[in-house]
Amino acid sequence: MSFTPPGFPAELRGGLPVVLVTGTSSGIGLALARELMQTDFRVVLTAHRRSIHKLEERGLTESSRVIIRAMDVTSKRDRDAVILEIERRWGGVDILINNAGVAYRAVMEEMSGVDEERQQDINYRGPMALCRRVLPHMRGSRWGRILNVSSVSGMMAMPTMGSYSASKWALEGASEALWYEMKPWNVRVTLIQIGFVHSQSFKNVRPPVARPHLEADRGPYREYYRNMGPFVEAKMQAAHATPEVIARRILSTLKRKSPPLRFPATKDARWFYFLRRMLPRRVYHLLMYLALPGRREWVQDK
Ligand SMILES: NC(=O)c1ccc[n+]([C@@H]2O[C@H](COP(=O)([O-])OP(=O)(O)OC[C@H]3O[C@@H](n4cnc5c(N)ncnc54)[C@H](OP(=O)(O)O)[C@@H]3O)[C@@H](O)[C@H]2O)c1
Repeated sequence: MSFTPPGFPAELRGGLPVVLVTGTSSGIGLALARELMQTDFRVVLTAHRRSIHKLEERGLTESSRVIIRAMDVTSKRDRDAVILEIERRWGGVDILINNAGVAYRAVMEEMSGVDEERQQDINYRGPMALCRRVLPHMRGSRWGRILNVSSVSGMMAMPTMGSYSASKWALEGASEALWYEMKPWNVRVTLIQIGFVHSQSFKNVRPPVARPHLEADRGPYREYYRNMGPFVEAKMQAAHATPEVIARRILSTLKRKSPPLRFPATKDARWFYFLRRMLPRRVYHLLMYLALPGRREWVQDK
């Protein structure tokens, strides 16, 4: 797969952009990394220090046009070091793909302040700090693409996933504002909205620090966890969209002259959008509530 994104200045590196991706050690990020290795782009694959070794184990190695660097998206030092190196080597980042993300699974009452901060730092503050870091170069060359990986959770919320939703709603709001701000500079911002994916990512869902064993817990919300965890897991296992398909769809937006602000990358993302838009709010919320698994048993007698 080799192409020059429409409008990319031919005088810049012979028409070959520099693309930076975060969170490439697994799932969608790994699939994006594999796809990008097939292009002629200059590619910067980043992963958290704890899992950077997985890239080599999975056959991803450096070359004259591919570099692999450790980057915790929440660390200013990591972000600065990687961007500075790219600026010195290739002039700057033309395409930023903010893919890294985590999901905490806890009811709002059981999220601690620390959990909330981690959730927001990884899914919202880190990605936006990276945007800020690459924008001067993009504005300077009057061309840039920012792809922020969002979720259907950025348009709808589910019990036990409230903080995850909040982080994606924050990402959606900031990206929407950035879309207006950057359009005059020919820097396009796209939110990739993803629904359920057929992958093992549910294993990476984090419990809050204060209650590390939620499913076995005897707390007042135990039935919420007992029902919601397997419900989400089953939906993911039943999903048709794989990380590979999603990666190809994400990269297809780079072939568009005018990529949309919101790009649904799975069928269910499109479906949820229409559901939310077409139904009166009261009806929508009632239907979603009635569809919650085992909700009649959520509150147990003392
Ligand atoms: N899978 C789904 O059903 C789904 C649905 C909607 C949206 N999404 C979004 O899609 C994106 C990718 O998720 P995925 O499904 O591919 O999940 P995944 O397999 O769990 O991958 C997440 C990646 O983010 C990395 N990461 C986590 N914290 C990081 C940090 N502080 N700094 C740098 N990297 C970090 C992880 O690294 P480690 O391995 O080191 O933790 C991993 O490489 C996320 O933004 C997610 O919210 C996924």
